[in-house]
Amino acid sequence: MTAIFKDKVAIVTGASQGIGETIALDLAEAGAKPALVDVQEEKLQAVAAKIREMGAEASVHTADVSKFDRVGRVVEDVLARWGRVDFLVNNAGITRDNLLLRMKEEEWDAVLAVNLKGTFNFCRAVVRPMLNQKSGRIVNIASVVGAMGNAGQANYSASKAGVIAFSKSLAREIASRGITVNCVAPGYIQTAMTDKLPEAVKKAFLEAIPLRRFGRPEDVAAAVRFLCSEGASYITGQVIHLNGGLYM
Ligand SMILES: NC(=O)c1ccc[n+]([C@@H]2O[C@H](COP(=O)([O-])OP(=O)(O)OC[C@H]3O[C@@H](n4cnc5c(N)ncnc54)[C@H](O)[C@@H]3O)[C@@H](O)[C@H]2O)c1
Repeated sequence: MTAIFKDKVAIVTGASQGIGETIALDLAEAGAKPALVDVQEEKLQAVAAKIREMGAEASVHTADVSKFDRVGRVVEDVLARWGRVDFLVNNAGITRDNLLLRMKEEEWDAVLAVNLKGTFNFCRAVVRPMLNQKSGRIVNIASVVGAMGNAGQANYSASKAGVIAFSKSLAREIASRGITVNCVAPGYIQTAMTDKLPEAVKKAFLEAIPLRRFGRPEDVAAAVRFLCSEGASYITGQVIHLNGGLYM
């Protein structure tokens, strides 16, 4: 184990599967203590068990990131248990794809509530303890479509563009206290979220990706690990695009 994050406490949302699970395992492997947040309790427990098998520690917090008060209590619980919060990775996200002509109000509201408000909720809750510590790293998981748009994803693209603009604004507000805020914007990563796309759509994506492969959750985790590391201490308000060249 390369313990570059020894004694660091890392909140990771959407940590029960996919990219979030991989980020949590990767941070634990680097010595951090992940506080795992998700709505899927059983899966969260399984991820925590994997982390303990690695000889690391983790805490489990079953919570809906879109609920402001609940998120505040999660951060209080993390502080009560670990005494600090060093990293926040806002990764929980959902899609409710539809062409705008058919998009229901609920589809718009649900995506904005989880992806954008959820990110606000957690940032709002960790900023004060991070300001008191005079240190902290916030990494928000955006998406390539937040920069380039995507037919059928007006709600999702708007939420991710919102995450990017929100992150830049917050980065400006808290940089003087040694806290950085950055985004990782993945392209097509192979997870449950993308497995459900029709084969024809997957094929079209692959043809448009210069590196000719889909991304892996490990590719995203590596960027998150870098942004949390000492080497990234002079980087804030940035978006790391991670998409095989799909968008340049
Ligand atoms: N897979 C991709 O190609 C891709 C591309 C760009 C961006 N992303 C982003 O990466 C992140 C992770 O995506 P993924 O592919 O691993 O998806 P996923 O669906 O496998 O995982 C998302 C996780 O978020 C959790 N979650 C959903 N709503 C929640 C809520 N209200 N409160 C707490 N947890 C909630 C889910 O339970 C799940 O564990 C998302 O923000 C997604 O938008 C994914």
